[in-house]
Amino acid sequence: MSADSFKRAAAEAAVALVQPGMSIGLGTGSTALFATQAIGARLREGSLRDIVAIATSKGVDDLARELGIPLQDDAMPRAVDLTIDGADEVDPDFNLIKGAGGALLREKVVAEASAREVIVVDESKLSPRLGTRFPVPVEVLEFGWQSQAGFLAGLGAEVVPRRKDGQPFRTDQGNLVLDCRFGPIADAHALAARLAGRAGVVEHGLFLGLVHDVIVAGPGGVRHLRRGDP
Ligand code: A5P
Repeated sequence: MSADSFKRAAAEAAVALVQPGMSIGLGTGSTALFATQAIGARLREGSLRDIVAIATSKGVDDLARELGIPLQDDAMPRAVDLTIDGADEVDPDFNLIKGAGGALLREKVVAEASAREVIVVDESKLSPRLGTRFPVPVEVLEFGWQSQAGFLAGLGAEVVPRRKDGQPFRTDQGNLVLDCRFGPIADAHALAARLAGRAGVVEHGLFLGLVHDVIVAGPGGVRHLRRGDP
């Protein structure tokens, strides 16, 4: 089986948790995409109704509209019952690195507003310690960005300004992203506090203590891990 089939299996297992009447957060990335498609399919076939969604990126908002998924206002007047999103790394305590797709800010806004945050991944995303495989994306204002790059290098990161199609990558908010390779991070909470305390850093891709469930698919099948499970 391919990585895509594992991603699809994890996403579809998460969509089975969606109930009529819920407010749903739609994640960004190739795995969460399968979940959005499956929600659209359930609405079309009639096994789901009366939901309202909020998208974690403009791209997913466009996709949801195409699929006929009702969306709540961007101001997000409703709390979110359940969000299904992907991740770049998942540690044994359900802490994450997110943002390879550049949607980390909206993803975190939606995760913090969600009663239940469900992460869908294939097994390659499981990590003994955050930073082992992926850089931490840091969204920064364009104003003064080189000062932020210096600050991040001072924290021990190898800093790479993200580019796309030969141009600086821009988030949905028009900001830049600095990909910061720290290697295995000894204390993610301490690092998150340093990043959050820096003017010009808009958001970072460390998602700590926000996740309730991880659904992981691999050659052995789909496992549903819940926070607090032994
Ligand atoms: C988007 O900004 C990211 O946080 C994605 O959720 C994350 O990169 C996982 O994406 P894939 O499912 O494509 O690996």
